[in-house]
Amino acid sequence: MHRLRTDRLLLRPWYVTDADFILDVYSRWDVQRYVGVMPWMMASMDDAFDRLTAWNLIDDGVRGVWAVTESDSGKLLGTVVLKYIPASGTNLAVDLAGETEIGWHFHPDAWGKGYASEAASAVLRHAFAHGLERIVAVTNPHNLASQRVCERIGMRHAGVTDAYYDTRCDLFVATAA
Ligand SMILES: CC(C)(COP(=O)(O)OP(=O)(O)OC[C@H]1O[C@@H](n2cnc3c(N)ncnc32)[C@H](O)[C@@H]1OP(=O)(O)O)[C@@H](O)C(=O)NCCC(=O)NCCS
Repeated sequence: MHRLRTDRLLLRPWYVTDADFILDVYSRWDVQRYVGVMPWMMASMDDAFDRLTAWNLIDDGVRGVWAVTESDSGKLLGTVVLKYIPASGTNLAVDLAGETEIGWHFHPDAWGKGYASEAASAVLRHAFAHGLERIVAVTNPHNLASQRVCERIGMRHAGVTDAYYDTRCDLFVATAA
């Protein structure tokens, strides 16, 4: 997996030693309430290790799931995901090769500092530099913070769609220049 650097951040692979942070983030309703069709709160370290293993399998040299850290201190802040998006009407557990989505989940202590936008911009640049031409993001219509991140990183609002995850989402699109 490519490590990505920004002014303040280092995006790197997840390590086994990060599992307690993963549990801390994904066991919170504030984080999970708009994530997925049926928000699910992580409950155990086993869940966290399973998630970490699944994330590391996504790495194909372009797509992947990055741990976002403060570059000065190494402190973990959150996650940026770049992966195939499941189309509605398919097995949502299996991301068939198709369109690619970007997503972000940060620890509440790290919200409001522009980290999500900074990290996601770096991942978009990486995706386009490695040949991807179109990236989508889908958000719960109530998730204004995430929609604002989409706008801040230059994604275009493309209306509402039922095409993914068997649900209705706001769709944002970024295309290679
Ligand atoms: C979405 C998320 C990553 C945004 O994190 P963040 O630290 O607030 O992101 P940033 O600081 O980079 O930018 C957020 C922007 O949204 C705005 N914002 C934050 N909360 C908001 C809210 N409730 N309503 C409207 N705008 C909001 C901020 O003001 C900022 O915009 P601005 O710079 O123009 O002022 C964070 O809220 C999160 O992790 N949420 C839980 C997981 C999640 O829902 N992920 C998305 C799934 S689609």
